[in-house]
Amino acid sequence: MNTTRKKKLPPGPRDWFFGVPQGLRIQADALHYYTELAQRYGDIAFFRAGPYRIHVVFHPDQIHEVLLTKAKSFEKMPKVRRVLSQLTGNGLVLSEGDFWQRQRRLGQAAFQPKRFEQYSRVMVERTLRLVERWDSAAGAPGSLDVDADRAMTDLAMEILAKTLFDVDIPAETAELGRAVALMSELFFKEISSLFVLPDWLPLPGKRRKRLAIRYLDETIRRFIGERRASGLDRGDVLSMLLLAVDHAGDGGGMTDEQARNEALTLLVAGHDSTAAGLTWVCYGLARNPGVAARATAEVDTVLGGRVPEYADVARLCYLEAVCKEAMRLYAPPFGVFTRRALADVEIGGYSVEKGSLVQMVCYLTQRDQRWFPDPGEFDPDRFAPGRIEQIRPYAYFPFGAGPRACLGSTFAMTEMILVTATILQRFELALAPGQQVVGLSGLSFRPKGGLRLRWTRRRG
Ligand code: HEM
Repeated sequence: MNTTRKKKLPPGPRDWFFGVPQGLRIQADALHYYTELAQRYGDIAFFRAGPYRIHVVFHPDQIHEVLLTKAKSFEKMPKVRRVLSQLTGNGLVLSEGDFWQRQRRLGQAAFQPKRFEQYSRVMVERTLRLVERWDSAAGAPGSLDVDADRAMTDLAMEILAKTLFDVDIPAETAELGRAVALMSELFFKEISSLFVLPDWLPLPGKRRKRLAIRYLDETIRRFIGERRASGLDRGDVLSMLLLAVDHAGDGGGMTDEQARNEALTLLVAGHDSTAAGLTWVCYGLARNPGVAARATAEVDTVLGGRVPEYADVARLCYLEAVCKEAMRLYAPPFGVFTRRALADVEIGGYSVEKGSLVQMVCYLTQRDQRWFPDPGEFDPDRFAPGRIEQIRPYAYFPFGAGPRACLGSTFAMTEMILVTATILQRFELALAPGQQVVGLSGLSFRPKGGLRLRWTRRRG
């Protein structure tokens, strides 16, 4: 009898107030809530939050079930779809079924290896501009304090604006950056709120939202119109989206409307997450001088003082491991892994009822000492040949896993490696005096209040 009951629902907090207290606790501090949940209830937990029945799975084997073997029994959470689709329509992150599969095939065209030489040139060239500005600002003392979170957010947008849309004008890049940052913030607020006020209300926040959506919509449609008129491949992602043909499917391409949705999806999916990734790699280097010294030595040996290029990414193995370790300890996608069961399905021996939500928190699974001994240690050698094979499958998934894994993961890894290699050629990184770091879960996991680092020009 006990076994039957146990099979029904996993352990977890029960309350008599329709789950409102759980919803409020998550809103107040999601990271703390899920950490406690894992500590108290183990590998799988269940609770109600407002109208939702939620299963949280922390064990790699169950994550494997949800993201891969039983992926067809799940869809993205409808609330996330409702919120994001206000801007991105039925773009790749949200679409499902045959339509998603077709769009994914077409989107992949923009991320083929042959496009990466051009993307890499942009990544390095934009970073060089930044380090040269810092170099002059550092003056004779040779060091300056800069908020890495702000700097990496701007840099990630400069790189995206150029690689996605061939945008070179600083004012246009800054405007895109402001609009995307506002939308990311609003998306997180709307996804995590139990109740959202209607958009037509004459409130300043609602007006800002309407203006940002209109600006992004008009700008991307203008880019698409210009590309269609010229018919040229400008080496950017948008050109590829418009030129791609679905050879494996119906032999057609994308309509302007689909291209608009996918372009905005890539802009939103690619910005906040990559900015967070770059920031945490800088933090990992600043906090761990031994790791930074080894990464710098590798950069010097591989590059011999020249500017990095795409072919170097495969040679900067230690730096790649540093980026992977930063993605383990400070996984950007804190809140995105939520799925809704399309039918009754069994996960980890418990039944998940149709309509229930299943959540995965890679931040916590990736800090579980069963899969990562001394989990708090920043140890890039976990990803070295000989040790990487020992990492349990699905214990590490900062880019997701299974069919819905990140489309931009190679782009993001290439960017993190090339940006940090270019920085390390010129600067040593340390925390600015008095800088305390607290992680904050928003649309991506970011340092609360920024991350002031001291950048010191390397001698010689
Ligand atoms: C460090 C940077 C990044 C991280 C950590 C990251 C993480 C993720 C994760 C976890 C997912 C899966 C979400 C889920 O299963 O619910 C995802 C999906 C996606 N990402 Fe990324 N991402 C990053 C950068 C990028 C970039 C640079 C792009 C494009 C320019 C991008 C485009 C996408 C797209 C289109 C999807 C949806 C794929 C699909 O459903 O078929 N991401 N990303």
